[in-house]
Amino acid sequence: MPKKPPFIAGNWKMNLTLPEARKLAESIAKAATGLSEAEIVLAPPFTALGEVKKALEGSSVRLAAQNLFWEEKGAFTGEVSAPMLKDAGCQYVIIGHSERRQYFGERDAGVNKKTQAALKSGVSPIVCIGETLAERERGETMDVISRQIQGGLEGIGAGDFESLVIAYEPVWAIGTGKTATPGQAEEVHAHIREKLASWYGIGPAECAIILYGGSVKPANSFALLSEKNIDGFLVGGASLEAESFIQITREAIRAHKEKK
Ligand code: 13P
Repeated sequence: MPKKPPFIAGNWKMNLTLPEARKLAESIAKAATGLSEAEIVLAPPFTALGEVKKALEGSSVRLAAQNLFWEEKGAFTGEVSAPMLKDAGCQYVIIGHSERRQYFGERDAGVNKKTQAALKSGVSPIVCIGETLAERERGETMDVISRQIQGGLEGIGAGDFESLVIAYEPVWAIGTGKTATPGQAEEVHAHIREKLASWYGIGPAECAIILYGGSVKPANSFALLSEKNIDGFLVGGASLEAESFIQITREAIRAHKEKK
């Protein structure tokens, strides 16, 4: 059985009031006692980090933020830094999500600064990459992915892969109900691992956790996680209901156990 436990992260995006966030986190924390073979992570909006942290106390579920700014402190109205996230109890932070790239103009150079800032503060980055439909149709998927990893991870040391997570999220599969087939996802995941091996060496490449994201549901999670290079999921819509998120985690654990 592979060493790394399946890594299942819920990205709640811009959803949930405090009572809703508390209720969902409590249900997941309760269910997590029976799901100890997975690393479960919840990424609520900034406003709910404190509430969710309280709800997760005593459980194995980890807390993540959805974004950060690379400076440590100062006159940057509206931004939140890596030391602040650490202080708020975040073990992980999502960086460079396609929605940030699409609506807030984020680019690989900024993703890189954010990744470095997170690592410096001891918050593990979950770096998101993925091609658009137009890029896939033009046959540019692998080039886009290579460029995004190279740009986003420039200057990152091989040792950082112990705490770094990469999430492959094809933009055309996010929130559309169109999931990449296990074969399509595996092709890109294998490419990511190969690139990491060529840049950083086999050890760090094997160590890196590579998640798939884009319309993950209970019904497709077993087949996706059965693929060799898919180590877990970054779940959007289906993470907003305890039952579907828990079911995805169960399916992932089942697939992981059967993996060679
Ligand atoms: P959906 O699961 O809603 O497609 O969202 C995926 C995603 O963007 C997770 O970060």
